[in-house]
Amino acid sequence: MTSSLDRKSQAWSALFSEPVDSLVQRYTASVGFDKRLALFDIQGSLAHARMLAARGIVSDADWRDIERGMAQVREEIEQGRFEWKLELEDVHLNIEARLTQLVGDAGKRLHTGRSRNDQVATDIRLWLRDAVDRIQDALRRLRLVLVDLAERHADTIMPGFTHLQVAQPVTFGHHMLAYVEMFGRDAERLLDCRRRINRLPLGAAALAGTSYPLDRQMVARELGFEAVCQNSLDAVSDRDFAIEFCAAASLLMVHVSRLSEELVSWMSQALGFVRLPDRYCTGSSIMPQKKNPDVPELARGKAARTIGHLSALLVLMKGQPLAYNKDNQEDKEPLFDTADTVLDTLVLFADMMAGIEVDPQAMRRSALRGHATATDLADYLVKKGLPFRDAHEAVALAVRECARSGRDLGELSLEQLQRIHPAVQDDVTQALSLEGSVASRDLTGGTAPAQVREQVRRLRAELGA
Ligand code: ARG
Repeated sequence: MTSSLDRKSQAWSALFSEPVDSLVQRYTASVGFDKRLALFDIQGSLAHARMLAARGIVSDADWRDIERGMAQVREEIEQGRFEWKLELEDVHLNIEARLTQLVGDAGKRLHTGRSRNDQVATDIRLWLRDAVDRIQDALRRLRLVLVDLAERHADTIMPGFTHLQVAQPVTFGHHMLAYVEMFGRDAERLLDCRRRINRLPLGAAALAGTSYPLDRQMVARELGFEAVCQNSLDAVSDRDFAIEFCAAASLLMVHVSRLSEELVSWMSQALGFVRLPDRYCTGSSIMPQKKNPDVPELARGKAARTIGHLSALLVLMKGQPLAYNKDNQEDKEPLFDTADTVLDTLVLFADMMAGIEVDPQAMRRSALRGHATATDLADYLVKKGLPFRDAHEAVALAVRECARSGRDLGELSLEQLQRIHPAVQDDVTQALSLEGSVASRDLTGGTAPAQVREQVRRLRAELGA
């Protein structure tokens, strides 16, 4: 039940003749989730109030009261003593009401020249900027872990796959660095998106700007924003920066998901390439022998969740006329959950990948099956003068012969290889070895151990490590 007292505590009370329906109250309230914005809300309010005083819109005494009152509000929130009230709808009205309780009229003057519309847009941008910075730190840590792993395994050879069929040998270090590249582009995307997050909506007020002589530049400077939003209607209503973030985050999670998929299959008994630390696995309640790669599997699953959030925000935006609509209150939970999911995933993966155990023998055994050096034999024949298409054909015939007799191309003797083509000489052994194969791909972007080491150097410099 909403009492008339509660009605008085609402910010828009005078016009209304009956209390809001209790289910409507619960349906429209956002305080349950937007209280996460509290410290950013206070930060934004303080910057606004300081500017109001600097411009003589409120008195210095009011500013001092607001500053003192907000310090106490913050303390109450940080200590978990703050009493959040559903009837006060959201984080903004809760904080303002408590401030007014503490300092009186100065609290009521805080909202001069401001609306919750530009206030909430400012808060989300401050919150998201901070989240992006934390995600960037975690992403950098994961990339460094993968670079270390790549360096340790610059010479470790595994089968490279296309269509999940053994294709050509690659080094495990090279394989890890593929993910470092993907995550590097994710970091670039986040950095780019941050520039567009980092603009100040305050001053847009409800939708049209305000008649008070605000100093928007001063507020922007104090809050660390790069610039102010240039159109008030746009500033309060668009959430494209949040959508961009969710898009970048979803792509990042897609990269994590691909890595997860590989870890899951590498851990299978069939391949046995890697073992994850036990603290990242769980057992089965029925099959005593099981050690399940839960963290990678869940990360793969959570990628679905972030993609869902991205599409939720896109759909949320698409039908909205200018300017602010209450629909926008629905931006927060998907956004918060996306950032939480990405951050937790990155922190876990950095630690998990640092503890991964690699079995080079299992990788090697697997690379020796499936005629992984067939391309090398064809290339060898080309270097002896055959046109590539003829060489390809000759080796294909040899592979067919091997398949019939249950052998691998790498197991053929020199005489048998010479039967494929008389140009074959004893230097073929080196060309057909796994080591010879990877070492020969010694160009920028290639899998050769020397290239992996070169990339490790470049990436360490880029990451400032
Ligand atoms: N809780 C609201 C939100 O998250 C704050 C803005 C409310 N503005 C309004 N005109 N009702 O979007």
